[in-house]
Amino acid sequence: MHCVQRLGSDVLYLGGSDRRLSLFENVYPIPRGVSYNSYLVLDEKTVLLDTVDQAIAPRFFENLTFALNGRTLDYVVVNHMEPDHAATLLDLMERYPQVQVVGSAKSIAMIAQFFDAAAQERTITVKEGDTLSAGRHTFTFLMAPMVHWPEVMVTYDTTDKVLFSADAFGTFGALSGNLFADELDFAAEWLPDARRYYTNIVGKYGPQVQTLLKKAAGLEIAMLCPLHGPIWRKDIQWFVDKYQTWSTYAPEEQRVMIACASIYGHTENAAEIVAARLAEKGVRNIALYDLSHHHVSEMVSEAFRCSHLVLASATYNNGLFTPMENLLLDLKAHNFQNRTVAIIENGSWAPQAGKLMRELVDGMKNMRVLEESVTLRSACKEDQRAALEALADAVAADLLG
Ligand code: FEO
Repeated sequence: MHCVQRLGSDVLYLGGSDRRLSLFENVYPIPRGVSYNSYLVLDEKTVLLDTVDQAIAPRFFENLTFALNGRTLDYVVVNHMEPDHAATLLDLMERYPQVQVVGSAKSIAMIAQFFDAAAQERTITVKEGDTLSAGRHTFTFLMAPMVHWPEVMVTYDTTDKVLFSADAFGTFGALSGNLFADELDFAAEWLPDARRYYTNIVGKYGPQVQTLLKKAAGLEIAMLCPLHGPIWRKDIQWFVDKYQTWSTYAPEEQRVMIACASIYGHTENAAEIVAARLAEKGVRNIALYDLSHHHVSEMVSEAFRCSHLVLASATYNNGLFTPMENLLLDLKAHNFQNRTVAIIENGSWAPQAGKLMRELVDGMKNMRVLEESVTLRSACKEDQRAALEALADAVAADLLG
């Protein structure tokens, strides 16, 4: 049975949610599921904006059949060729042999890479500023390379002021009837997943997101329709401001994250002593994470949120204990920058973790490592309390300013 929902007089939501997939892109845990959004504009011409992941293909095609109600499909706009949105494109083209595929030159090239060259014969290549009229609606295409792949574009309905924003402004999380962000407690229940989605999927490409935000700033936007998660029609600027912060690698909050990679709990003990001292000094909302028990995507997201990081790690195989190594390599891969860091190392016979954490942090842009650092040799000893508290005091002074 179809699950079509109406967004406007002639704009319909045809997407759906996957609540069974455990790993998005086969790497990111999604305990709240994910939605694949697709939109249909019914005008003199019928225009579909993106298809969906193979996982929800049956429901999507039921939705499309119902929504078209016997009409033909004239155009499908491909804003993004990643399979979570385009895996069903060839199936669509076979079901609707007259449909024309509209996309950027790179999208059209990718059609032959994912499918076969014959599919390219029914395509219309568009570039920055090109338009397509469907009757009452006119669509303008704006290129958005690397948000999140090179072929990405966004589509602006100049008639109804709707921006179909591809991956931008998307979030993990299945939709449950309420399609609009203003029908949900987005800040409380969705923002962590929106942050984790942005930082892990698009976080590396801050400058390219900035370019898109500058283009969007010149548009009047009444509705923002991403390819994942809720649709925005109120308080759009609130979410745009989040993107502004994240894409400039500015901390979202003055807040400290203590990330600890501890084998038997001794390094964790040092992290707890630091946390207690920070609290004494008036620091609030301290978050201490044992990296072995959180997916690295959560920790990348949390690091993007916080202004200050305390990194505490054991030495392992004469290198870094792997949960800390994974986090720092992932942060570097996501272009993480502009933070203040304090370092605690542990090593029972040859501590290496501090030097290695420092090298990895120094490889990121505009990172400041506080002079106060601590070396443990196995368990914390009472005579090291002063050094741990000095480290905490330095973090607190910097944080509270
Ligand atoms: Fe939702 Fe980059 O695909």
